Amino acid sequence: METASTRTARPLVPARTAAVWAVLRRELERNEGRELTVLDVGGGTGGFAVPLAQSGHTVTVVDASPDALAALTRRAADAGVAARVRAVQGDGDALAGLVEPGSVDLILCHSVLEVVDQPADVVAAIVAALRPGGAVSVLVASRAAAVLGRAINGHLRSALALVNDEDGHAGARDTLRRRYDAETAGALLRSAGLEVEEIHGVRVLTDLLPATVVEEDPQALLDLELALSARPPFRDIASQLHLFARRR
Ligand SMILES: C[S@@+](CC[C@H](N)C(=O)[O-])C[C@H]1O[C@@H](n2cnc3c(N)ncnc32)[C@H](O)[C@@H]1O
Repeated sequence: METASTRTARPLVPARTAAVWAVLRRELERNEGRELTVLDVGGGTGGFAVPLAQSGHTVTVVDASPDALAALTRRAADAGVAARVRAVQGDGDALAGLVEPGSVDLILCHSVLEVVDQPADVVAAIVAALRPGGAVSVLVASRAAAVLGRAINGHLRSALALVNDEDGHAGARDTLRRRYDAETAGALLRSAGLEVEEIHGVRVLTDLLPATVVEEDPQALLDLELALSARPPFRDIASQLHLFARRR
């Protein structure tokens, strides 16, 4: 049976981000008719910010990288939404001086908590920026997927290092400082006072399949990704975990 989430994800996205967009679309529909104030922390070149602005919302992207912000500004202009996208250079743990505390309806923090110095400080800054009732979309790298990926590619020692390391970090050559599972990521958000409403796996199969399979029937892959995204154990081996939480 087709669910609301599969219906809303289809027009927008490929399988790689379908599970995230399905949740975001539901939040936009919940606020239908309102122009939301959105903050994208570490939003990079605007892969989410620009489509959200195209949907009629006002988006501030705070990112440490001037190059990423320059690309974001070009992308927003090309999409005709420059007036609704604000690019701000800054640090995710120092949002107070950049956005009005307690003012933001929806905050995105995608693929950032695994690279910053102190994830708890970034989450605390996010909570302070959210209005009561506001929501946060957090995407983090999964430890389980990284362990499986390394093992399947023959890097058994690296896989073992990832299993045993407290932070899910695989040594000096690892580009990420940490990885999460559903429990540790959920605990990080809850300890900051957020209520975690949903956890999904993102890219459950997409990164494991040969390109020919992905290209042959994109709609079937999208449907399968969405069907698996909320179901353990499939959710828990996805490349990324998506948590949707709310400030009460
Ligand atoms: C992997 S990219 C993710 C970009 C985007 N969120 C996405 O999902 O496509 C990580 C982004 O976080 C930014 N970043 C890293 N550390 C940061 C920090 N402490 N404060 C703000 N942005 C940061 C980087 O400049 C980069 O644009």
